[in-house]
Amino acid sequence: MSFLSEEIMNDRNINYYNRLGVNTLKELAVKGGFADYPDLLMVNSNLENAKAILEIGAGYGRCIDFLMKNKFQGQIIALEKSPVLFDYLTETYKNVEVVFGDIKTYSMEGKVDVALWMWSGIIDFSLEEQKSCIQKIEGFLNKGGKLVIDVPKIGFQTFAQHLDKQRLHISNEYGTLDCYIPSFSEIEKIGKEAGFSTAEEIHYKTTTLKERTIYILTK
Ligand SMILES: C[S@@+](CC[C@H](N)C(=O)[O-])C[C@H]1O[C@@H](n2cnc3c(N)ncnc32)[C@H](O)[C@@H]1O
Repeated sequence: MSFLSEEIMNDRNINYYNRLGVNTLKELAVKGGFADYPDLLMVNSNLENAKAILEIGAGYGRCIDFLMKNKFQGQIIALEKSPVLFDYLTETYKNVEVVFGDIKTYSMEGKVDVALWMWSGIIDFSLEEQKSCIQKIEGFLNKGGKLVIDVPKIGFQTFAQHLDKQRLHISNEYGTLDCYIPSFSEIEKIGKEAGFSTAEEIHYKTTTLKERTIYILTK
């Protein structure tokens, strides 16, 4: 099996989400223990007072649901690259700015206080792609703003094939997905080079006991 070339990894992976669709993604959220928001509860103190939040890859709107349940009063910008998921988000959330786009090419007018990249969103990108996206996201944040990144804990066995500790491959009826889990030291280095002042990592378990890590970069 050849591992996808660095430049096209994320573009190839998007077909997987198109085929997966809303209902299967929701079922996976339940199986993975994300449906009751353990990740967002871990970082909620960073979200409560934000005036504007950008979500990268909003999926079926799980993070939007969490923010709405918590009566979040600020602006939510939900970026989504899959047309299937984008159509669902547009129909479902009338008070959210849903944007059809790709974080690799997206540009933003204003600034936000938090950028959320949850439930393994970042691992659908090669390390090179992750690096250029993090550099770009730094430019979207206000001073003191946070980039919150959620990944599987390195070393924890997921349902994917583990090619090594950081490279995962999924092949099933929905197609293939190639993933790269960045380590804390990689995120810390990329964050520092991009202009973030601090990096922290938090370990937690989902409600179905999947071991996860959240990285928070503060500008
Ligand atoms: C694992 S899902 C996470 C969904 C959501 N963030 C959550 O926490 O429930 C990853 C999402 O990122 C989207 N995505 C993948 N590549 C993207 C890109 N380049 N730009 C924007 N969204 C992307 C996928 O279509 C999918 O909806």
